Amino acid sequence: MAKTVLVSGGAGFIGSHVTVELISAGYDVVVADDMSNCDLTCFEGVKKITGRDNLPFVKMDFCDLEAVHNLFAEYHIDAVIHFAAFKAVGESVAEPLKYYNNNLTSFMNLLTVAHAQKSGCNVLFSSSATVYGEPDVLPVTEESPRQPATSPYGNTKQICEDILRDCVKAYSEGEGALKGIALRYFNPIGAHPSGLIGELPRGVPNNLVPFITQTAIGKRECLSIFGNDYPTPDGTCQRDYIDIVDLAKAHVCAVGRMIDEKMENDYEVFNIGTGVPVSVLELVNAFEKVNNLKLNYKFAPRRSGDVTAIWADPTLANEKLGWKAERSVEETLAAAWKWEQRIAGK
Ligand code: WQD
Repeated sequence: MAKTVLVSGGAGFIGSHVTVELISAGYDVVVADDMSNCDLTCFEGVKKITGRDNLPFVKMDFCDLEAVHNLFAEYHIDAVIHFAAFKAVGESVAEPLKYYNNNLTSFMNLLTVAHAQKSGCNVLFSSSATVYGEPDVLPVTEESPRQPATSPYGNTKQICEDILRDCVKAYSEGEGALKGIALRYFNPIGAHPSGLIGELPRGVPNNLVPFITQTAIGKRECLSIFGNDYPTPDGTCQRDYIDIVDLAKAHVCAVGRMIDEKMENDYEVFNIGTGVPVSVLELVNAFEKVNNLKLNYKFAPRRSGDVTAIWADPTLANEKLGWKAERSVEETLAAAWKWEQRIAGK
């Protein structure tokens, strides 16, 4: 009997790619999303890629506790992957209450209902390398200290990690037992090679790669590279860009670890990154080269809140999850461009 995984926020960029990989790994999936930050493009794409025309979809708000109870009453959930949250760093600074209310209430509702199930539940939380802030030592391991959050968005990630940690400790066995894993993503980029799902930022993209692809397609006039006077080899910031399909596969490994009861602690944390730093300029040059085009860009002042450099030590995920990033940054950027051209109708 196939195990069932609930993917909250599953119609979004990461959730849709994770759903594809879960289905291809033999899981049944229920997708739930309030559609506040996406349309059904990716959900329809998931059905095309997997051939799962009857993929269950529930439009709901996880801040509505009754709706969460109803969901668990309708489906037997063996594991839940929680993506449903607001994630715009800048917006969170302007509207902290919107972020604390939504991101914390939705997660606490989910844990409340998961704990109310006699068989309990396995909970996989979508965390972020943002919890490390500006690291003193690189690469960062899971033991690297979390720095005080630089945005309410980042703070909700830290608080939710702590809520999960404390809940699995308190409810570690018996009825309603919970197990928990937090995956700390570095910078997810790219799109599914089919060109049927990818990133659909609303309005002007905050993130680098969608801004690059929208500039290349002519939707944006010019890419501003925020700062080329950083203490890095080429003066631009360094990040650990993780291909979205590689990232999705890490979730399948983590779900399997929980369901197959391979965990060594009730709560575990893993860095999901390539371990290879790439600068903004290197990424721009790689995009131009692999897609054989010239990108219009200029150097601009630094963006406040940016860290100079951060990249992962992914050893723990390699060893314990049996997961490793496999796709090259060139493959990722080619897929990102294919996706941008498709949504532009080219
Ligand atoms: C990457 C680099 C920018 C846009 C954020 C969140 C993090 C996670 C991933 C949710 C930086 C530079 C960007 C542009 C640029 N999100 N840049 N011009 O800031 O590392 O991480 O997204 O979980 O939590 O903090 O990603 O893509 O915004 O920026 O030069 O138009 O690209 O300065 O150096 P970031 P990013």
